[in-house]
Amino acid sequence: MKRRYYNGSDLSRAVTIEDLRRMALRRLPSFAAEFLEGGGEDELTLAWNRDVFKTMRFEPRMLKDMMVVRTSTMLFGSEMASPLVIAPTGHTNVFRGGGDVALARAAAAEGIPFTLSTMSNTRLERLAGEAGGRRWMQLYILGEKAVRDDIIRRAEESGYEALVFTTDVNVPSLREWERRQFRKTSKLNLPALVDVALHPRWALDVLVPNGMPKLVNIADFFPDEISSTDRALALVRKEFVPNITWDHVAELRERWPRKLLIKGVLSPEDAQRAADVGCDGIVLSNHGARHFDSCLSPMEILPEVAAALGDKLTIVIDSGFRRGSDVVKALALGAHAIMVGRATLYGLVAGGEPGVRHAIGILNSEIERVLGQLGCAGVDELGPHLIRTNPTMPHAEPIGRAV
Ligand SMILES: Cc1cc2nc3c(=O)[nH]c(=O)nc-3n(C[C@H](O)[C@H](O)[C@H](O)COP(=O)(O)O)c2cc1C
Repeated sequence: MKRRYYNGSDLSRAVTIEDLRRMALRRLPSFAAEFLEGGGEDELTLAWNRDVFKTMRFEPRMLKDMMVVRTSTMLFGSEMASPLVIAPTGHTNVFRGGGDVALARAAAAEGIPFTLSTMSNTRLERLAGEAGGRRWMQLYILGEKAVRDDIIRRAEESGYEALVFTTDVNVPSLREWERRQFRKTSKLNLPALVDVALHPRWALDVLVPNGMPKLVNIADFFPDEISSTDRALALVRKEFVPNITWDHVAELRERWPRKLLIKGVLSPEDAQRAADVGCDGIVLSNHGARHFDSCLSPMEILPEVAAALGDKLTIVIDSGFRRGSDVVKALALGAHAIMVGRATLYGLVAGGEPGVRHAIGILNSEIERVLGQLGCAGVDELGPHLIRTNPTMPHAEPIGRAV
């Protein structure tokens, strides 16, 4: 039977993250929808990020008292209401006016950390003032400029708890989808412009108040260019340099006094190196399959990394998480927390801050239900003995992009 999804715009009637995704895609013009959904090249890894969960199934334990099931967990010595962290996403205000702040406020209200991107449309100081809660700062090292020093200093002064250094776009991808939407850097082509005109609700929310959102977090480094989003983006893209190595991580370790995580790790060797240079954690990630097509899903490598690293590092994982069952599988296989990127962005587009809270609420209630069905009263009772993995996947389905 064909699965049906909610097709309206009443947030409270969205039952799943997929419902929110469909609501979000109806609201966005095509270039923004592609920016949200797009993956590298043929999107094989984008599909695999979802399909990999089908290769893992639960082996439940029955007849245990599940009247009280706890989703809370400890991360870096503090309790959080559920094992979720909002992932860093750049240019978030393109999806919804005030997007960064809405995400951060929702995270604070739901008792989970929020990660601000270097490429945010909100300055990190402003976000700290307006959102509160547990905040992590994501870092890109850009070219010769001292962006890195600036971000580190400001994040420390503004009380960010952790620095998340992203390593997987040092060699950037072609972003083929972007080329189909733009006639030159950040100049939309005619069909994309017409599509913008067909989305007045989005234009009124995003474009009319302030024009295209700018990369204000790094504005001091590109003072002239930043006034124009096109030039800023072109310039920033050139600043992603491929000569970043573990020496940079060691340097960061010396400068940043709080928790340091490396995002984009996909092998036990690199996880070990992260531990060796003194990182506190890693984010196993393929960047939501946005860049490197045909690379593996972090879920495939998680059991090996967890076995090799044990308690030496905090293991955060992301890429493809859309269901509470996905989250529980990762926790059972050794992750300590799960970053969500698109899942909360769908909520943001569909309903602003309440939409993000709705997305987190959907995931939390699914996590709680799966824990109960599995016979675990809390995430601390999970373990690999509860998962059966079958690497052959008979029912791989195309993901069916709706944009
Ligand atoms: C629109 C968008 C923008 C992103 N921007 C960044 C970024 O600026 N820095 C970063 O480290 N990761 C970025 N990511 C990757 C996310 O942090 C995360 O790794 C990814 O979204 C996880 O996969 P998921 O979307 O399937 O949950 C971005 C992802 C999306 C969808």
